[in-house]
Parts: sequence; C-alpha cells; structure tokens
Amino acid sequence: MDLAEIAGKVKTCTKCRLSENRTKAVPGEGDEDTDLLFVGEGPGRQEDQQGRPFVGRAGNKLTDILGSVSLERSQVYITNIVKCRPPENRTPKSDEIDSCLPYLEAQIAEINPSIIATLGNTATKTLLDTEEGITSARGKFYSWRGKIQVFPMFHPSYLLRNPSKEKGSPKYQTWQDIKKIKKVLRSN
Ligand code: URA
Repeated sequence: MDLAEIAGKVKTCTKCRLSENRTKAVPGEGDEDTDLLFVGEGPGRQEDQQGRPFVGRAGNKLTDILGSVSLERSQVYITNIVKCRPPENRTPKSDEIDSCLPYLEAQIAEINPSIIATLGNTATKTLLDTEEGITSARGKFYSWRGKIQVFPMFHPSYLLRNPSKEKGSPKYQTWQDIKKIKKVLRSN
C-alpha cells in the first residue's frame, strides 16, 4: 500500500471514537523516501482544522528544531500515533492507539526510514512498548522490531512550556539530540 492509499484509508476511517469529532483526519506529510520519520502523539486543534501534522505552535517549534541542523520539513516525514484529534487534546487511550497503529505500521513499511524519532511519551511508549518515561529514554538509540532505529526526543510542546536554553535544560538536550540524529544520517 503506498502512502496515498494509506492516507485515503485514514481520511475515511471510523475504527475508533476519535473519528466522531474530527474536522479532518491527519495522515502525515513529507518526503516518502526520507531516512528520518518523526512520530508525535496526535493532532491538535490547528492540525484538525488543516488536515496537516504539526502546523500549530508545537509544529513551529519542530520546524525550528529541524532548522537548527539545516533540515527542512520537506526532507523528513512527519506523522502521529493517532491520526484524529483527541477531544481537548487529551492523551489518546490505548484502544484508540491500537485501532490506529496499523496505519503507522503501514507508513513505516512504505517509508522504511533508518531513524524513527519519537516525540514525547506517547509515541515513545507505543513504539518501544516500554513504560520508561521520556526524560530517561530520550537521546538514545533503540531498535524497532530489530529493523529500524528509534530515537526518543522531548515533545516540542514540552519545550514551549520549558523555554530555558541553559545547559542541561530540555531545549539544550533537544539541540544535542537533533545534532546526534544529523550525524547518524550523514554517516549513512
Ligand atoms: N502535537 C502532536 O503530537 N502532533 C501534532 O501533529 C501536533 C501537535
């Protein structure tokens, strides 16, 4: 199934309750041949309105993080664990994640990236099947099904709430993290 077909299925999906209140489903966007896939939690208000991932404030932050190592959004692929906005931006429930996961798995199979950067707790816990929190999990490489490297990072929303750039701050650590990703991409 190619990415357009997956997007078509996502847009008409009614597998879980999140479909009931959506304006638009948000399949994902970016370079289909990329080595770097970003996975967030789920669409927020702006994403639900536009049908595109990470276009609100957190999205601008993600764009800045990429820009700090001269990467553009068009060079990566960006998607989420759940493709429809949870009410009031609550954390997706496990049955909603289970219903939606086959879409992400199909996207991963099609893109076949060398690195999946998981943004925040929900994406990290889902893809790594771990209870380890993002603060200790971030900044290290793990393996997804023995095939693809997974690299957890703080969610950009968390950085909006913690704006300090001091050494050791979440922003500082994120800057280290994206540089680490860039270095691995360069050596591939
Ligand atoms: N937060 C997410 O996790 N995903 C988006 O697409 C936007 C905000």
